[in-house]
Amino acid sequence: MTVRKYFRQGRASPFEYTWPAGRGIPGWVLQHKVPYGTSDAAHDPVMQHDLPINVDVRSIICTPILSSFGEVLGYFDIRNKQDAEGFTVADQDMLMALAPAASIAIQNALAYQQRLSAETELQESYERLRALAANLEVVREEERTQIARELHDQLGQALTAMKFDLAWLTNRIVDKDEALGQRAKAVTTQMDTMIKTVRRIATELRPGMLDDLGLAASIEWLAHDFEKRTGIICLTTVTVPDVPLPRAPSLTLFRILQEALTNVARHANAQLIEVRLDATPETVTLQVHDDGRGIQAGEAAGLHSLGLLGMRERAQRLGGTFDIRGVPGDGTIVTVIIPVKSN
Ligand SMILES: Nc1ncnc2c1ncn2[C@@H]1O[C@H](COP(=O)(O)OP(=O)(O)OP(=O)(O)O)[C@@H](O)[C@H]1O
Ligand SMILES: [Mg+2]
Repeated sequence: MTVRKYFRQGRASPFEYTWPAGRGIPGWVLQHKVPYGTSDAAHDPVMQHDLPINVDVRSIICTPILSSFGEVLGYFDIRNKQDAEGFTVADQDMLMALAPAASIAIQNALAYQQRLSAETELQESYERLRALAANLEVVREEERTQIARELHDQLGQALTAMKFDLAWLTNRIVDKDEALGQRAKAVTTQMDTMIKTVRRIATELRPGMLDDLGLAASIEWLAHDFEKRTGIICLTTVTVPDVPLPRAPSLTLFRILQEALTNVARHANAQLIEVRLDATPETVTLQVHDDGRGIQAGEAAGLHSLGLLGMRERAQRLGGTFDIRGVPGDGTIVTVIIPVKSN
């Protein structure tokens, strides 16, 4: 048992000492879990006479403070009863009667300390997880960039070269064999589609247009492309066309829009989506409103809602907010607000 402070006539003095069980009077109490007292401290065989706090001690009484499981949490150590030779059985009984209250106070304090450190640990592990998620996202973006580059530069260019060769061959075949020529033309058309698909995938993977054309134009492109592929009408309203945003928040909003649109296509059963981009000098707000079945309260909080979690994390990483809500009879609204740093 460790003692850190020692009170003498109402004043606390620092005193760092750990009693081994069985050593000195507190050690004896620790071991036997019953009170110990003496009126002749100078000649007491249990008392440790070499400790500075034990100088000038005439009488002493030491009673244990037990936990509800019977372990010693602490002890009362009272010395030198005034105007008397030593402590009585009544004194001892009074201290023993006080012990349960002290025990509850100590156990509460210990539980509180444990809760505090558990909370700190939880907070720390949460921070670590967030850092890990953020790092994972950086790595994913790098990988996407790499794949987009390979797709665009290698596959895209090879396909374009093949298309030209095919066109050259088609021109030569068409005069000699009509049927063969038509087949070759059909392959050329398929190649055109393939080249467009590769370009689209590359752009979705690494929206270079964010750098070239800015956020507003990129959002319009994404909405238009989405409409073409899904048949869901996707209207965009950009109130501030030239939102001057660095790449990080632009990419965040672009990725959130990608996930929000994918969710509409997968879950909403919607016919119409309205995408709005508003900006003030302090914030940029993206809103995606579909006219589908509307997200239910439970769905947004599901453990497997990784898409929603990712959107929220992205927004929060930049100090922003993310909100998704179903409006009865009026689909779902996703709102993302990102603060803009003023220079
Ligand atoms: N626009 C929407 N309309 C209706 N329900 C939606 C909409 N967006 C999300 N949801 C509901 O919220 C759930 C969670 O979405 P979330 O994007 O997190 O997961 P997911 O799309 O099912 O899977 P993934 O992790 O691949 O994104 C969806 O399964 C769906 O039930
Ligand atoms: Mg999703």
